[in-house]
Amino acid sequence: MDTLVLERSGPLAGRVQVSGAKNAALPIMAACLLSEEESVIEGVPRVTDVSTMAEILRGLGATVAWQDGRVGIRPGHETGWTAPYELVSQMRASVCVLGPLLAKHGRARVSMPGGCIIGPRPIDLHLKGLQALGAVIAMDHGDIIAQAERLTGTTIHLAGAFGSSVLATGNVMMAATLADGTTVIEPAACEPEVADLADFLIAMGGRISGHGTPRITIEGVLRLHGARHRIIPDRIEAGTLMIAAAMLGGDVAIDGAAAEHLGAVIDTLTQAGAAVEALNGALRVRSDRNLKGVDITTLPFPGFPTDLQAQMTAMMTLSRGVSLVTEKIYPERFMHVPELRRMGASITREGPSAIVKGVEGLSGAPVKATDLRGSAALVLAGLAAENHTVLQGVEHLDRGYEHLEAKLAQMGAVIRRERTI
Ligand code: EPZ
Repeated sequence: MDTLVLERSGPLAGRVQVSGAKNAALPIMAACLLSEEESVIEGVPRVTDVSTMAEILRGLGATVAWQDGRVGIRPGHETGWTAPYELVSQMRASVCVLGPLLAKHGRARVSMPGGCIIGPRPIDLHLKGLQALGAVIAMDHGDIIAQAERLTGTTIHLAGAFGSSVLATGNVMMAATLADGTTVIEPAACEPEVADLADFLIAMGGRISGHGTPRITIEGVLRLHGARHRIIPDRIEAGTLMIAAAMLGGDVAIDGAAAEHLGAVIDTLTQAGAAVEALNGALRVRSDRNLKGVDITTLPFPGFPTDLQAQMTAMMTLSRGVSLVTEKIYPERFMHVPELRRMGASITREGPSAIVKGVEGLSGAPVKATDLRGSAALVLAGLAAENHTVLQGVEHLDRGYEHLEAKLAQMGAVIRRERTI
Protein backbone atom coordinates (compact mmCIF):
# COMPACT_ATOMS: atom_id res chain seq x y z
CA MET A 1 0.00 0.00 0.00
CA ASP A 2 1.34 3.48 -0.88
CA THR A 3 2.16 6.07 1.75
CA LEU A 4 2.49 9.85 1.53
CA VAL A 5 5.41 11.61 3.17
CA LEU A 6 4.53 15.19 4.12
CA GLU A 7 6.91 17.95 5.21
CA ARG A 8 6.06 21.34 6.69
CA SER A 9 5.10 23.52 3.72
CA GLY A 10 3.91 26.96 2.77
CA PRO A 11 3.35 29.62 1.78
CA LEU A 12 1.80 28.10 -1.36
CA ALA A 13 1.90 29.92 -4.69
CA GLY A 14 0.78 29.43 -8.28
CA ARG A 15 -2.30 27.99 -9.93
CA VAL A 16 -3.87 24.56 -10.30
CA GLN A 17 -6.75 23.18 -12.36
CA VAL A 18 -9.65 21.54 -10.59
CA SER A 19 -10.78 18.12 -11.95
CA GLY A 20 -14.31 17.06 -12.86
CA ALA A 21 -16.58 16.15 -9.94
CA LYS A 22 -16.41 12.50 -8.87
CA ASN A 23 -19.86 12.73 -7.29
CA ALA A 24 -21.38 14.02 -10.54
CA ALA A 25 -19.48 11.50 -12.70
CA LEU A 26 -20.65 8.39 -10.81
CA PRO A 27 -24.45 8.77 -11.26
CA ILE A 28 -23.96 10.16 -14.78
CA MET A 29 -22.02 7.03 -15.75
CA ALA A 30 -24.89 4.93 -14.33
CA ALA A 31 -27.41 7.03 -16.28
CA CYS A 32 -25.79 5.90 -19.54
CA LEU A 33 -27.59 2.57 -18.99
CA LEU A 34 -30.89 4.34 -19.75
CA SER A 35 -30.14 4.43 -23.47
CA GLU A 36 -29.00 1.89 -26.04
CA GLU A 37 -26.67 4.38 -27.71
CA GLU A 38 -23.18 5.46 -26.75
CA SER A 39 -22.71 8.49 -24.48
CA VAL A 40 -19.47 10.40 -24.16
CA ILE A 41 -18.63 12.04 -20.85
CA GLU A 42 -15.85 14.60 -20.63
CA GLY A 43 -13.95 15.65 -17.54
CA VAL A 44 -14.37 12.34 -15.69
CA PRO A 45 -11.68 12.19 -12.99
CA ARG A 46 -9.32 9.20 -13.01
CA VAL A 47 -10.05 8.03 -9.45
CA THR A 48 -10.67 4.57 -8.03
CA ASP A 49 -14.41 5.09 -7.48
CA VAL A 50 -14.79 5.87 -11.20
CA SER A 51 -12.89 2.67 -12.04
CA THR A 52 -15.23 0.73 -9.74
CA MET A 53 -18.26 2.21 -11.52
CA ALA A 54 -16.70 1.31 -14.87
CA GLU A 55 -16.30 -2.30 -13.63
CA ILE A 56 -19.94 -2.40 -12.56
CA LEU A 57 -21.09 -1.12 -15.95
CA ARG A 58 -18.87 -3.65 -17.75
CA GLY A 59 -20.38 -6.38 -15.55
CA LEU A 60 -23.77 -5.19 -16.78
CA GLY A 61 -22.68 -5.69 -20.40
CA ALA A 62 -21.59 -2.14 -21.25
CA THR A 63 -18.42 -1.15 -23.09
CA VAL A 64 -16.53 1.54 -21.19
CA ALA A 65 -13.53 3.14 -22.90
CA TRP A 66 -11.29 6.10 -22.02
CA GLN A 67 -10.33 8.17 -25.04
CA ASP A 68 -8.29 11.37 -24.57
CA GLY A 69 -9.73 12.30 -21.18
CA ARG A 70 -13.26 11.28 -22.17
CA VAL A 71 -15.18 8.19 -21.24
CA GLY A 72 -17.33 6.54 -23.89
CA ILE A 73 -20.05 4.27 -22.47
CA ARG A 74 -22.12 2.02 -24.72
CA PRO A 75 -24.61 -0.27 -22.98
CA GLY A 76 -24.66 -3.79 -24.45
CA HIS A 77 -27.72 -5.28 -26.14
CA GLU A 78 -27.68 -8.18 -23.70
CA THR A 79 -27.45 -5.94 -20.67
CA GLY A 80 -27.13 -7.80 -17.38
CA TRP A 81 -29.12 -6.71 -14.37
CA THR A 82 -26.92 -7.62 -11.38
CA ALA A 83 -24.46 -5.41 -9.49
CA PRO A 84 -22.51 -7.86 -7.31
CA TYR A 85 -21.44 -7.59 -3.67
CA GLU A 86 -17.69 -7.52 -4.50
CA LEU A 87 -18.13 -4.17 -6.25
CA VAL A 88 -21.03 -2.64 -4.29
CA SER A 89 -19.16 -3.30 -1.03
CA GLN A 90 -16.24 -1.22 -2.37
CA MET A 91 -18.40 1.79 -3.16
CA ARG A 92 -21.89 2.66 -1.95
CA ALA A 93 -22.53 4.87 -4.99
CA SER A 94 -22.95 1.58 -6.92
CA VAL A 95 -26.55 1.77 -5.77
CA CYS A 96 -27.12 4.37 -8.52
CA VAL A 97 -27.47 1.64 -11.13
CA LEU A 98 -30.72 0.52 -9.46
CA GLY A 99 -32.96 3.23 -10.96
CA PRO A 100 -31.59 3.03 -14.54
CA LEU A 101 -31.70 -0.81 -14.68
CA LEU A 102 -35.24 -0.90 -13.35
CA ALA A 103 -36.46 1.77 -15.76
CA LYS A 104 -34.76 0.30 -18.82
CA HIS A 105 -35.08 -3.44 -18.22
CA GLY A 106 -37.91 -3.76 -15.68
CA ARG A 107 -35.65 -5.45 -13.16
CA ALA A 108 -32.49 -4.91 -11.16
CA ARG A 109 -30.52 -6.95 -8.67
CA VAL A 110 -28.09 -4.87 -6.63
CA SER A 111 -26.24 -6.04 -3.56
CA MET A 112 -27.42 -4.19 -0.44
CA PRO A 113 -24.64 -1.76 0.55
CA GLY A 114 -23.33 -2.68 3.98
CA GLY A 115 -22.07 -0.51 6.84
CA CYS A 116 -19.82 2.40 6.12
CA ILE A 117 -16.92 3.90 8.03
CA ILE A 118 -18.54 7.36 8.09
CA GLY A 119 -21.57 5.98 9.96
CA PRO A 120 -24.97 4.51 9.05
CA ARG A 121 -25.90 5.10 5.43
CA PRO A 122 -29.32 3.57 4.84
CA ILE A 123 -30.93 3.36 1.39
CA ASP A 124 -34.57 3.40 2.53
CA LEU A 125 -35.25 6.63 0.58
CA HIS A 126 -33.99 5.08 -2.68
CA LEU A 127 -36.33 2.12 -2.18
CA LYS A 128 -39.25 4.27 -1.05
CA GLY A 129 -38.97 6.40 -4.18
CA LEU A 130 -38.74 3.44 -6.55
CA GLN A 131 -41.67 1.71 -4.82
CA ALA A 132 -43.74 4.89 -5.23
CA LEU A 133 -43.06 4.61 -9.00
CA GLY A 134 -44.49 1.06 -8.89
CA ALA A 135 -41.45 -1.16 -8.28
CA VAL A 136 -41.86 -4.30 -6.21
CA ILE A 137 -38.83 -4.70 -3.97
CA ALA A 138 -37.65 -7.91 -2.33
CA MET A 139 -34.47 -9.02 -0.56
CA ASP A 140 -32.64 -12.24 -1.46
CA HIS A 141 -29.25 -13.36 -0.09
CA GLY A 142 -28.26 -9.78 0.76
CA ASP A 143 -29.35 -8.46 -2.64
CA ILE A 144 -32.13 -6.00 -3.41
CA ILE A 145 -34.33 -7.25 -6.22
CA ALA A 146 -36.49 -4.58 -7.80
CA GLN A 147 -39.04 -5.38 -10.50
CA ALA A 148 -41.70 -3.46 -12.40
CA GLU A 149 -43.54 -4.07 -15.67
CA ARG A 150 -43.91 -0.31 -16.12
CA LEU A 151 -43.05 2.57 -13.83
CA THR A 152 -45.73 5.22 -13.33
CA GLY A 153 -45.08 8.83 -12.37
CA THR A 154 -46.33 10.17 -9.05
CA THR A 155 -45.49 12.73 -6.35
CA ILE A 156 -42.77 11.44 -4.02
CA HIS A 157 -41.78 12.85 -0.64
CA LEU A 158 -38.08 12.05 -0.39
CA ALA A 159 -36.85 13.45 2.95
CA GLY A 160 -35.33 11.43 5.78
CA ALA A 161 -34.24 12.35 9.30
CA PHE A 162 -31.19 14.18 7.87
CA GLY A 163 -33.00 15.96 5.06
CA SER A 164 -33.05 15.13 1.37
CA SER A 165 -30.76 12.48 -0.13
CA VAL A 166 -28.41 13.24 -3.01
CA LEU A 167 -28.18 9.77 -4.57
CA ALA A 168 -31.81 8.82 -3.79
CA THR A 169 -32.93 11.95 -5.67
CA GLY A 170 -30.65 10.89 -8.54
CA ASN A 171 -31.84 7.29 -8.56
CA VAL A 172 -35.53 8.21 -8.56
CA MET A 173 -35.02 10.98 -11.14
CA MET A 174 -33.23 8.53 -13.48
CA ALA A 175 -36.00 5.93 -13.09
CA ALA A 176 -38.73 8.53 -13.62
CA THR A 177 -37.31 9.68 -16.98
CA LEU A 178 -38.72 6.50 -18.59
CA ALA A 179 -41.89 6.21 -16.44
CA ASP A 180 -45.44 6.79 -17.71
CA GLY A 181 -46.63 10.29 -16.81
CA THR A 182 -45.24 12.94 -14.50
CA THR A 183 -43.15 12.49 -11.35
CA VAL A 184 -42.57 15.22 -8.77
CA ILE A 185 -39.74 14.74 -6.24
CA GLU A 186 -40.11 16.91 -3.17
CA PRO A 187 -38.00 17.75 -1.25
CA ALA A 188 -35.32 16.97 -3.80
CA ALA A 189 -31.62 17.36 -3.09
CA CYS A 190 -30.33 20.67 -4.53
CA GLU A 191 -26.65 19.70 -4.77
CA PRO A 192 -24.91 20.84 -8.00
CA GLU A 193 -24.15 17.16 -8.77
CA VAL A 194 -27.90 16.40 -8.88
CA ALA A 195 -28.44 19.35 -11.23
CA ASP A 196 -25.56 18.11 -13.41
CA LEU A 197 -27.18 14.66 -13.62
CA ALA A 198 -30.46 16.31 -14.63
CA ASP A 199 -28.64 18.29 -17.34
CA PHE A 200 -27.17 15.05 -18.68
CA LEU A 201 -30.59 13.35 -18.68
CA ILE A 202 -32.01 16.36 -20.54
CA ALA A 203 -29.19 16.04 -23.10
CA MET A 204 -30.29 12.39 -23.51
CA GLY A 205 -33.84 13.56 -24.30
CA GLY A 206 -35.30 13.54 -20.77
CA ARG A 207 -37.91 16.13 -19.79
CA ILE A 208 -36.91 17.55 -16.43
CA SER A 209 -37.46 20.90 -14.77
CA GLY A 210 -36.79 22.39 -11.34
CA HIS A 211 -33.42 20.66 -10.87
CA GLY A 212 -31.23 22.62 -8.48
CA THR A 213 -34.39 23.43 -6.44
CA PRO A 214 -36.22 21.32 -3.82
CA ARG A 215 -38.96 20.43 -6.34
CA ILE A 216 -37.98 18.48 -9.46
CA THR A 217 -40.58 17.57 -12.09
CA ILE A 218 -39.93 14.76 -14.57
CA GLU A 219 -42.21 13.99 -17.50
CA GLY A 220 -41.57 10.45 -18.64
CA VAL A 221 -40.49 9.80 -22.25
CA LEU A 222 -40.49 6.55 -24.25
CA ARG A 223 -36.76 6.42 -24.92
CA LEU A 224 -33.51 8.26 -24.31
CA HIS A 225 -30.63 8.61 -26.73
CA GLY A 226 -26.87 8.82 -26.18
CA ALA A 227 -25.47 12.24 -25.29
CA ARG A 228 -22.24 14.16 -24.88
CA HIS A 229 -21.68 15.97 -21.61
CA ARG A 230 -18.94 17.70 -19.61
CA ILE A 231 -18.91 17.05 -15.86
CA ILE A 232 -19.02 20.10 -13.54
CA PRO A 233 -15.84 21.00 -11.62
CA ASP A 234 -15.30 19.16 -8.33
CA ARG A 235 -16.35 21.61 -5.61
CA ILE A 236 -14.97 19.34 -2.89
CA GLU A 237 -11.53 19.11 -4.49
CA ALA A 238 -11.59 22.88 -5.07
CA GLY A 239 -12.63 23.45 -1.44
CA THR A 240 -9.83 21.16 -0.20
CA LEU A 241 -7.25 23.16 -2.18
CA MET A 242 -8.74 26.45 -0.91
CA ILE A 243 -8.50 25.26 2.70
CA ALA A 244 -4.89 24.16 2.02
CA ALA A 245 -4.03 27.68 0.82
CA ALA A 246 -5.74 29.32 3.80
CA MET A 247 -4.10 27.00 6.31
CA LEU A 248 -0.57 26.95 4.85
CA GLY A 249 -0.66 30.59 3.72
CA GLY A 250 0.15 31.98 0.29
CA ASP A 251 -1.53 33.23 -2.85
CA VAL A 252 -3.03 30.61 -5.16
CA ALA A 253 -5.54 30.49 -7.99
CA ILE A 254 -7.76 27.45 -8.43
CA ASP A 255 -8.79 27.36 -12.08
CA GLY A 256 -12.26 26.08 -12.83
CA ALA A 257 -13.49 26.33 -9.21
CA ALA A 258 -17.14 27.46 -9.35
CA ALA A 259 -17.85 30.23 -6.82
CA GLU A 260 -21.61 29.54 -7.06
CA HIS A 261 -21.02 26.01 -5.72
CA LEU A 262 -18.74 27.13 -2.90
CA GLY A 263 -20.60 30.00 -1.21
CA ALA A 264 -20.54 28.51 2.32
CA VAL A 265 -16.86 27.62 2.01
CA ILE A 266 -15.89 31.08 0.73
CA ASP A 267 -17.86 32.67 3.58
CA THR A 268 -16.21 30.46 6.23
CA LEU A 269 -12.68 31.06 4.91
CA THR A 270 -13.34 34.79 4.75
CA GLN A 271 -14.60 34.81 8.36
CA ALA A 272 -11.43 32.96 9.36
CA GLY A 273 -9.30 35.72 7.83
CA ALA A 274 -8.38 34.49 4.32
CA ALA A 275 -9.17 36.61 1.25
CA VAL A 276 -11.12 34.83 -1.49
CA GLU A 277 -11.99 36.41 -4.81
CA ALA A 278 -13.50 35.08 -8.01
CA LEU A 279 -11.75 36.21 -11.17
CA ASN A 280 -11.53 34.91 -14.73
CA GLY A 281 -13.00 31.49 -14.02
CA ALA A 282 -10.75 30.90 -11.02
CA LEU A 283 -10.94 31.38 -7.27
CA ARG A 284 -7.94 33.17 -5.82
CA VAL A 285 -7.17 32.50 -2.15
CA ARG A 286 -4.71 34.60 -0.19
CA SER A 287 -3.78 34.00 3.44
CA ASP A 288 -1.04 35.01 5.87
CA ARG A 289 -1.71 31.82 7.87
CA ASN A 290 -2.87 33.92 10.82
CA LEU A 291 -6.45 32.58 11.01
CA LYS A 292 -9.11 32.81 13.68
CA GLY A 293 -11.55 30.12 14.78
CA VAL A 294 -14.93 29.81 13.06
CA ASP A 295 -18.01 27.66 13.64
CA ILE A 296 -19.48 25.43 10.96
CA THR A 297 -22.58 23.25 10.71
CA THR A 298 -22.72 20.79 7.84
CA LEU A 299 -26.00 20.91 5.94
CA PRO A 300 -27.41 19.98 2.53
CA PHE A 301 -26.43 22.38 -0.29
CA PRO A 302 -26.11 25.38 -0.16
CA GLY A 303 -25.03 24.80 3.45
CA PHE A 304 -21.48 23.87 4.41
CA PRO A 305 -20.73 20.47 2.78
CA THR A 306 -20.07 17.46 4.99
CA ASP A 307 -17.42 16.40 2.47
CA LEU A 308 -15.27 19.39 3.56
CA GLN A 309 -15.86 19.08 7.31
CA ALA A 310 -12.71 17.04 8.02
CA GLN A 311 -10.47 19.38 6.02
CA MET A 312 -11.95 22.45 7.73
CA THR A 313 -11.50 20.77 11.13
CA ALA A 314 -7.79 20.32 10.28
CA MET A 315 -7.56 24.06 9.53
CA MET A 316 -9.26 24.94 12.83
CA THR A 317 -6.65 23.02 14.83
CA LEU A 318 -4.22 25.85 14.04
CA SER A 319 -6.69 28.77 14.10
CA ARG A 320 -6.79 31.18 17.05
CA GLY A 321 -9.48 30.55 19.67
CA VAL A 322 -12.23 27.95 19.74
CA SER A 323 -14.14 26.57 16.75
CA LEU A 324 -17.29 24.46 16.88
CA VAL A 325 -18.01 21.84 14.20
CA THR A 326 -21.49 20.32 14.06
CA GLU A 327 -22.28 17.42 11.69
CA LYS A 328 -25.91 17.46 10.59
CA ILE A 329 -25.47 14.94 7.75
CA TYR A 330 -23.30 12.15 9.21
CA PRO A 331 -23.17 12.62 13.01
CA GLU A 332 -20.38 10.04 13.33
CA ARG A 333 -18.09 11.38 10.61
CA PHE A 334 -15.14 12.18 12.91
CA MET A 335 -12.63 9.37 12.25
CA HIS A 336 -9.95 12.01 11.51
CA VAL A 337 -10.21 13.42 15.05
CA PRO A 338 -8.13 10.79 16.93
CA GLU A 339 -5.43 11.03 14.23
CA LEU A 340 -5.34 14.84 14.43
CA ARG A 341 -5.06 14.51 18.21
CA ARG A 342 -1.99 12.30 17.71
CA MET A 343 -0.43 15.28 15.93
CA GLY A 344 -1.10 17.56 18.91
CA ALA A 345 -4.54 18.96 18.05
CA SER A 346 -6.91 19.85 20.88
CA ILE A 347 -10.33 18.46 19.91
CA THR A 348 -13.17 17.32 22.18
CA ARG A 349 -16.10 15.32 20.83
CA GLU A 350 -19.63 16.09 22.06
CA GLY A 351 -22.11 13.88 20.20
CA PRO A 352 -22.42 15.17 16.63
CA SER A 353 -20.08 18.09 17.43
CA ALA A 354 -16.38 18.66 17.85
CA ILE A 355 -14.91 21.52 19.85
CA VAL A 356 -11.54 22.52 18.43
CA LYS A 357 -9.15 24.72 20.45
CA GLY A 358 -6.47 26.22 18.26
CA VAL A 359 -2.91 25.21 19.24
CA GLU A 360 0.42 26.90 18.42
CA GLY A 361 1.63 24.04 16.23
CA LEU A 362 1.08 20.43 15.18
CA SER A 363 3.85 17.89 15.27
CA GLY A 364 4.43 15.38 12.48
CA ALA A 365 3.55 11.76 13.23
CA PRO A 366 2.72 8.50 11.52
CA VAL A 367 -1.04 8.68 10.88
CA LYS A 368 -3.57 6.45 9.20
CA ALA A 369 -6.49 7.43 7.00
CA THR A 370 -9.67 5.38 7.14
CA ASP A 371 -11.90 7.39 4.81
CA LEU A 372 -11.66 9.65 1.76
CA ARG A 373 -12.18 13.13 3.19
CA GLY A 374 -10.47 12.29 6.49
CA SER A 375 -7.37 11.38 4.48
CA ALA A 376 -7.38 14.82 2.84
CA ALA A 377 -7.61 16.41 6.30
CA LEU A 378 -4.54 14.46 7.41
CA VAL A 379 -2.63 15.56 4.29
CA LEU A 380 -3.34 19.21 5.17
CA ALA A 381 -2.38 18.68 8.82
CA GLY A 382 0.83 16.90 7.77
CA LEU A 383 1.82 19.82 5.52
CA ALA A 384 1.25 22.29 8.37
CA ALA A 385 3.04 20.24 11.06
CA GLU A 386 6.63 20.43 12.25
CA ASN A 387 8.86 17.56 11.08
CA HIS A 388 7.53 14.97 8.76
CA THR A 389 4.32 13.00 8.71
CA VAL A 390 3.81 9.64 7.06
CA LEU A 391 0.25 8.97 5.98
CA GLN A 392 -0.97 5.42 5.56
CA GLY A 393 -4.28 4.48 3.99
CA VAL A 394 -3.62 6.52 0.84
CA GLU A 395 -5.95 4.21 -1.09
CA HIS A 396 -8.81 6.13 0.55
CA LEU A 397 -7.48 9.41 -0.90
CA ASP A 398 -7.17 7.77 -4.31
CA ARG A 399 -10.87 6.89 -4.32
CA GLY A 400 -11.86 10.49 -4.89
CA TYR A 401 -8.93 12.86 -5.54
CA GLU A 402 -7.21 12.98 -8.93
CA HIS A 403 -3.48 13.73 -8.46
CA LEU A 404 -4.00 15.66 -5.20
CA GLU A 405 -0.35 15.36 -4.24
CA ALA A 406 0.80 16.57 -7.67
CA LYS A 407 -1.52 19.59 -7.44
CA LEU A 408 -0.30 20.48 -3.95
CA ALA A 409 3.33 20.01 -5.04
CA GLN A 410 2.68 22.28 -8.04
CA MET A 411 1.83 25.03 -5.52
CA GLY A 412 5.03 24.37 -3.55
CA ALA A 413 3.95 21.81 -0.95
CA VAL A 414 6.57 19.23 -0.01
CA ILE A 415 4.80 15.94 -0.47
CA ARG A 416 5.85 12.67 -2.02
CA ARG A 417 4.31 9.26 -2.56
CA GLU A 418 6.26 6.19 -1.60
CA ARG A 419 5.06 3.29 -3.66
CA THR A 420 5.09 -0.17 -2.22
CA ILE A 421 5.32 -3.07 -4.54
C1 EPZ B 1 -23.61 11.69 -1.44
O1 EPZ B 1 -23.85 10.46 -0.76
C2 EPZ B 1 -22.13 11.75 -1.70
N1 EPZ B 1 -21.73 10.60 -2.49
C3 EPZ B 1 -21.36 11.78 -0.39
O2 EPZ B 1 -19.99 11.99 -0.71
C4 EPZ B 1 -21.84 12.98 0.44
O3 EPZ B 1 -21.20 12.95 1.69
C5 EPZ B 1 -23.37 12.91 0.62
O4 EPZ B 1 -24.02 12.81 -0.68
C6 EPZ B 1 -23.94 14.12 1.35
O5 EPZ B 1 -23.64 15.29 0.63
C7 EPZ B 1 -21.89 10.62 -3.82
O6 EPZ B 1 -22.45 11.53 -4.40
C8 EPZ B 1 -21.35 9.47 -4.58
P1 EPZ B 1 -27.21 11.26 1.10
P2 EPZ B 1 -25.36 9.97 -0.54
O7 EPZ B 1 -28.14 10.17 0.71
O8 EPZ B 1 -26.23 10.43 -1.62
C9 EPZ B 1 -29.43 9.85 5.01
C10 EPZ B 1 -17.67 11.66 -0.53
O9 EPZ B 1 -16.86 11.84 0.40
N2 EPZ B 1 -30.11 8.87 4.14
O10 EPZ B 1 -27.47 12.61 0.55
O11 EPZ B 1 -25.29 8.52 -0.24
C11 EPZ B 1 -27.93 9.59 5.13
O12 EPZ B 1 -27.66 8.61 6.10
C12 EPZ B 1 -19.02 11.01 -0.29
O13 EPZ B 1 -17.43 11.96 -1.71
C13 EPZ B 1 -31.18 8.17 4.63
O14 EPZ B 1 -31.59 8.33 5.79
O15 EPZ B 1 -25.74 10.77 0.76
C14 EPZ B 1 -27.42 10.96 5.47
O16 EPZ B 1 -27.60 11.21 6.85
C15 EPZ B 1 -19.16 10.41 1.06
N3 EPZ B 1 -31.81 7.26 3.82
C16 EPZ B 1 -28.34 11.88 4.68
O17 EPZ B 1 -29.50 11.10 4.38
C17 EPZ B 1 -31.41 7.06 2.52
O18 EPZ B 1 -32.03 6.25 1.83
C18 EPZ B 1 -27.75 12.40 3.39
O19 EPZ B 1 -27.14 11.32 2.69
C19 EPZ B 1 -30.32 7.80 2.02
C20 EPZ B 1 -29.69 8.70 2.87
